[in-house]
Amino acid sequence: MRIVVLTGAGVSAESGVPTFRDADGLWEGHDPMTVATPEAFDHDPTLVQRFYDERRTALTRVQPNAAHQALARLEAELGDDLCLVTQNVDDLHERGGSQRVHHMHGRLRAAWCTACDARHDWEATLVDRPPCPACGSAQLRPDVVWFGEVPYDMEAIEEALWACDLFVSIGTSGVVYPAAAFVHYAIGNGRQTLELNLDESDTSSDFHQSRRGPATELVPAWVDEVLR
Ligand code: APR
Repeated sequence: MRIVVLTGAGVSAESGVPTFRDADGLWEGHDPMTVATPEAFDHDPTLVQRFYDERRTALTRVQPNAAHQALARLEAELGDDLCLVTQNVDDLHERGGSQRVHHMHGRLRAAWCTACDARHDWEATLVDRPPCPACGSAQLRPDVVWFGEVPYDMEAIEEALWACDLFVSIGTSGVVYPAAAFVHYAIGNGRQTLELNLDESDTSSDFHQSRRGPATELVPAWVDEVLR
């Protein structure tokens, strides 16, 4: 059985990472256009770097939860037959034990040099304009995909969606494209689809099956089912 799993902010919510669109979410009181677009970065790089620096620092205070760990267990059994795609920029899948994660929206703990195009693992802050370890220029930005930019790994993800038997979406509101269209792509190719989410999402009714509950309960239970 080949499975593609897409995760969103809901999978990390119980670890203490705020989602984007729930009450108390990250975008509440924040216009994403002021911190999550290339134009925002050109206009006020200090504001944007501070926003991501704070989120990068906050990662040191959170731990992976039972949902991340269950998906790592699934990978250990299925190997390459599992394709794990996340919209999350946190590293909780990796810290939960997953080894092959497509971060389609990039990673908070990485910096990208717009001068020489090098990418570096990055734990520190960027607001102080540190030099790029490769070329020395002070043009590092968070290696995250902003609105209007092209998500990473799309070719590999589309191939996996095309080749899978089952597409599973976990903890995402289904409002941000292209991830929101994965369910339609999978169904168009005749694949089975399952959603695991705390609440109804924008695309819930499109899935063959949709289950409601917290990721830390639904995901381990579903992984047990698959592995049984
Ligand atoms: N368990 C399962 N699902 C949950 C939980 C939980 N404990 N808590 C919240 N959810 C669900 C919510 O019901 C909602 O459907 O997670 C979803 C979170 O939705 P968003 O905040 O919109 O996050 P996401 O879908 O990942 O956002 C997509 O938007 O701004 C961009 O780049 C950002 O990657 C992000 C993208």
